[in-house]
Amino acid sequence: MTQVFYRAPIKSYPTVSHGSGIYLWDTEGQRYLDGSSGALVVNVGHGRQEIAEAMARQASRVAFAHTMRFTSEAQETLGSLIAERLQPEPYYTYLVSGGSEATETAVKLARQYHLERGEPQRVKVMAKWASYHGNTLGALALSGHLSRRRPYAPLLAESVFPHFMGPTNQHGYGEACDCLSLVEARLEQEGPQTIAALVIEVVGGSALSGFVPHRGYLSGLEALCRKHGILFIVDEVMTGMGRTGDWWAHTREGLRPDMMTLAKGLSSGYSPLGAVVAHKEVWETIRSGSGTFAHGITYGGNPVSAAAGVSVMKLLGHEQLPENATLRGQYLARRLGEMAANYPVIREVRGLGLMQALVLRTDTMRAGSVATTLVEDAFDHGLIIYPGNGSPTSVFGDHVLVAPPLIITDDEIDELLGILAQSLRRLQDTVR
Ligand SMILES: Cc1ncc(COP(=O)(O)O)c(C=O)c1O
Repeated sequence: MTQVFYRAPIKSYPTVSHGSGIYLWDTEGQRYLDGSSGALVVNVGHGRQEIAEAMARQASRVAFAHTMRFTSEAQETLGSLIAERLQPEPYYTYLVSGGSEATETAVKLARQYHLERGEPQRVKVMAKWASYHGNTLGALALSGHLSRRRPYAPLLAESVFPHFMGPTNQHGYGEACDCLSLVEARLEQEGPQTIAALVIEVVGGSALSGFVPHRGYLSGLEALCRKHGILFIVDEVMTGMGRTGDWWAHTREGLRPDMMTLAKGLSSGYSPLGAVVAHKEVWETIRSGSGTFAHGITYGGNPVSAAAGVSVMKLLGHEQLPENATLRGQYLARRLGEMAANYPVIREVRGLGLMQALVLRTDTMRAGSVATTLVEDAFDHGLIIYPGNGSPTSVFGDHVLVAPPLIITDDEIDELLGILAQSLRRLQDTVR
């Protein structure tokens, strides 16, 4: 009997015991290959003693000092390390505790930026169908993800978070589509002078696993934002920290966002941590305006979490893990492509770096259950992968993310794919 309110109280869960590299073990001795780094979190792998020691050193010196009164060396170092990786553009990091908080913070910062500049009519923040930016009420209202929104729809501030249609599965990378004109039409409808910011995932995550928009789409969005005085915010909660092969996925298209949100890989799960990384122009507007960002979260800038972030950033650099994500990602994508030829249940393989997705056919099973059946079966056989559902216009559309820690080797990828192949075979037997 438990007194814990589980995510799904209907279920029982194995008790995690420990982790090392790409593996986790439960207290019964069962080993799991973490083929999705949790939820694309554990970029540097499990059981990294360097990180545990850095956090312990910080906690034994000082674990908490309120950011209303103090900064910390860990927070300063993390800000500098992130800024270094964004050079030559100057950026400033505001630390929070996770991705949803980062989204909420970015929305509020955008609002205050426009207030400081004498544009109080800019209240709305736009996002795309399909997208996912977090589960708190503001972040969920921004998210274009039908199944997550549905139960809470009456609580979501619809009028402040308008959505636009984006590229779909049919518009693969490199293919032209007129998606920018859809955004322009939405802007005209809302009145561009009422829009404070636009938030976009660089590669689709939970709502559109591994979807890479065609080249020119994101830079086109950025140009539209500039034209209308709208802040351009990239959500790199999943894609940041080397996941797609670059430190930040947005640099591939040479974007210069006004803000970037981070979480997940930033601490690699060693401690709750998220960030809004704001361009100097935004920071300077607040600094030279009222001088204070009217926001604050008790655990924001927590020194122990910041120490974890510093340690993760160093490991990613020293071990060249973004580069490994490119190389191993190419191998993983190729092998998944070969598997697609043998397993008709796979409709498409897509992704970037070590953020690869299988889009699944749902013709013979209830939509939504194909991905969960596959993910549950894989878990029962010792492999963790991450399910997703939805498409721009529907709750339907099953996909799974295969996104192991960036330290993975080709041999370990082979092991991952061996278990996945067995699960795909069993799934096909079910749907036949
Ligand atoms: C792109 C993106 N943004 C924001 C979030 C929310 O992050 P968190 O779950 O840490 O609140 C997620 C979580 O999956 C995400 O994938």
